[in-house]
Amino acid sequence: MSLSIVRTVADLRTQVYAWRKAGLRTALVPTMGALHEGHLTLVRRGRDLADRVIATVFVNPTQFGPNEDFSRYPRDEAGDAAKLASAGCDLLFAPTVDVMYPAGFATSIDVGPVTTRWEGAFRPGHFQGVATVVTKLLLQAGADVACFGEKDYQQLCTIRQLVRDLDIPVQIEGVPTVREGDGLALSSRNAYLSPEQRQVAGQLNRVMRGVIDRLHAGETVDAALSAGTQALLDAGFTAVDYLALVDALTLEPLTAPGAGRLICTARLGGVRLLDNMAV
Ligand code: PAF
Repeated sequence: MSLSIVRTVADLRTQVYAWRKAGLRTALVPTMGALHEGHLTLVRRGRDLADRVIATVFVNPTQFGPNEDFSRYPRDEAGDAAKLASAGCDLLFAPTVDVMYPAGFATSIDVGPVTTRWEGAFRPGHFQGVATVVTKLLLQAGADVACFGEKDYQQLCTIRQLVRDLDIPVQIEGVPTVREGDGLALSSRNAYLSPEQRQVAGQLNRVMRGVIDRLHAGETVDAALSAGTQALLDAGFTAVDYLALVDALTLEPLTAPGAGRLICTARLGGVRLLDNMAV
């Protein structure tokens, strides 16, 4: 089947209702476009879990801060549509800002403590923007399952929490991060890296693995995280916004080694690179 494109909520719902009437399960893959293999892996996972896959491409203005990259965020709808078709996506929902936020739009969703630390502290308002647009997309599409990458781990926890709290009838599927050969997590923002920065970027994954090895070897959390932070700076990162061992659900810091998630954001000039790993 070829990829159809719809731009209004009414057209999206007409298609989803027709599929549901025919007894077909649907999967939703929300994206901001500039698609790479990580997104296509989400589409393929959607195909495993459902009969039809809907991708959304919407660069959501409300999740960008005033000094962030909203206006220069890469946009290539034709290229994205071709990639989605080749990955087996059935429908692309590509609304305009006016469709998503018509005049008079006033609601903002605050998911609470899971959003306040880490990315939430560095990007005030970001998770309210994400939570609001994801809630809208989930309700607009009414899909059975929605796929999100583990790469944006705090976003995934936020979405799981809001779906639970608001009783949205959808299964949230977290999909493991897709990486380059040197371990760099795929991200649309990797395109901003200079060739020199790209060399350094691959060290993030290596250093994080080193931190996990130290924890497994019995080092204290503080010592392992300090060594990791220094190793990132030595490798050429310009700043480490945070490197933390956290509870995998609440994202509260863990002070003793235990099952959790190692999360990190490190900067190369103006580019912030995020990664996380199970511990
Ligand atoms: O992860 C993203 O691409 C975005 O944050 C999302 C989930 C599509 C919401 O705009």
